[in-house]
Amino acid sequence: MSKIIELPEVLANQIAAGEVIERPASVVKELVENSIDAGSSQITIEIEESGLKKIQVTDNGEGISQEDVALSLHRHATSKIKSQADLFRIRTLGFRGEAIPSIASISHFTVKTATADENYGTLLVAKGGEIETQEPISTPVGTKITVENLFYNTPARLKYMKSLQSELAHIVDVVNRLSLAHPEIAFTLINDGRQMTTTSGTGDLRQAIAGIYGLNTAKKMIEISNADLDFEVSGYISLPELTRANRNYITILINGRYIKNFLLNRAILDGYGSKLMVGRFPIAVIDIQIDPYLADVNVHPTKQEVRISKEKELMSLISSAIAESLREQDLIPDALENLAKSSTRSLPKPEQTSLPLKQTDLYYDKERHDFFVKSDTVEEQPVQLFNEVDTPVK
Ligand SMILES: Nc1ncnc2c1ncn2[C@@H]1O[C@H](COP(=O)(O)OP(=O)(O)OP(=O)(O)O)[C@@H](O)[C@H]1O
Ligand SMILES: [Mg+2]
Repeated sequence: MSKIIELPEVLANQIAAGEVIERPASVVKELVENSIDAGSSQITIEIEESGLKKIQVTDNGEGISQEDVALSLHRHATSKIKSQADLFRIRTLGFRGEAIPSIASISHFTVKTATADENYGTLLVAKGGEIETQEPISTPVGTKITVENLFYNTPARLKYMKSLQSELAHIVDVVNRLSLAHPEIAFTLINDGRQMTTTSGTGDLRQAIAGIYGLNTAKKMIEISNADLDFEVSGYISLPELTRANRNYITILINGRYIKNFLLNRAILDGYGSKLMVGRFPIAVIDIQIDPYLADVNVHPTKQEVRISKEKELMSLISSAIAESLREQDLIPDALENLAKSSTRSLPKPEQTSLPLKQTDLYYDKERHDFFVKSDTVEEQPVQLFNEVDTPVK
C-alpha cells in the first residue's frame, strides 16, 4: 500500500516558514524587500509589540494587479524569474516565491494594493494561509501588507521568541541594513506609535548613515572606492578613532543585498592594518557591485549568504580601498583636526526631537567635511545637531 502523500499546500508553506521566518524581524525583512523590488521610493514599517502583535509595511511601489493578488499567496509564484537562465542573473532581492505564502500560513494576513493602470485595487484577507475575503477597494497605488498574530498556529515557535526588547532590536537591525543598502528610498520605522528611525531617501549614502547612526558618526566616516574588471567597491568607513566593541556596525552589500560574509569582514579589518585596537571594530558600509553571474544568491533560505566567484580578488580590492583611503587621510592632518573639532563642539540644548535630516535640503560638502543646509538668503551654516543618537544595532 502506498505510504507517500503529497502534503497540502498550506502545510508545505508552514514547513517552508520554519526555515524562512525565524522571528518577526524575518517578516519585516521579506515584506520590505518586496517593497524595494516593487520600485518604491517610500517605505513605512509600523510594528506593535515588537511585531508579534502586528507588522504593517506600506509602500508606494508598483502594486499588485487584481488577478495576481491571490496568486502571490501561492508557493513558488513569483513575478521575478521565469526561467532557469534567470536564476543566474538575479537583480531583485526576492526570486523564490515563498516569502508571502510562508508568512501568510502562520499569521492573519491582509493585503491592500493597487496598480496605476487598473481602476480599482484589491483587499485580500487570509488566516493561516486560507483566503477569507477578496474584494475590490479604492486604495492608493502601492501595497500595504498587515501581518497580525504571527506564529498564532505554531505555538512552539512562539515560545521560542526572546524578550520584546530583543525582537525589537532585530527589527531595528534589519531596517537599518536595508536603509543603508537603499539610500534612494525614504524609510520610516514606527514602534508602538513612536518613530524609531527615519532616512531621507535622497540617494546619498552618507545621509542615510547620518539618519541611522547619527550625524557625528557620519562626519567621522571617510569615503572608499576601488574597482577592477569584475567588481566595483564603494562606501564609507569610520576613522580608526571611531570604533565599536563588535562587528554589528559593519554592513556589506552586494548588488543592494545585505549579506553576511566572514572573509569579506576580515578583508575590511585587514584594510585597517594595525590602526585598530585589539577587540575593536569599525563602522563600515561597503557597497559591492558585481555581475550577478559571479554571485550565487541561491545558497541560503534567508538569502543572506552569497557565494562569490573570485572572492580572493574581491577581498584584496576591499582591503586596498580601505588602506588607501586611510593613508590619504593621514596625509591631510588639517582635515582630521577639523573633523575632530567639529565632532566635539558643544551643542545647544535640544529644542526639537527629530534629526535635522528631515530638512530635505541638507547636503554634505566633501571639501569641508561637514553638513550644510541649502539656503538662498542666509549664509550657509554647518548643521547644528539636536538629537544625536547611536541607535543600538543589537
Ligand atoms: N510590496 C509588493 N509590491 C508589489 N508586488 C509585491 C509586493 N509584495 C509581493 N509582491 C508580489 O508577490 C510575489 C510573491 O512575493 P514573495 O515575496 O512571496 O516572492 P518573491 O519576492 O518573488 O520571492 P522570495 O520568496 O524570494 O521573496 C512577488 O513576486 C511580487 O510579484
Ligand atoms: Mg519576496
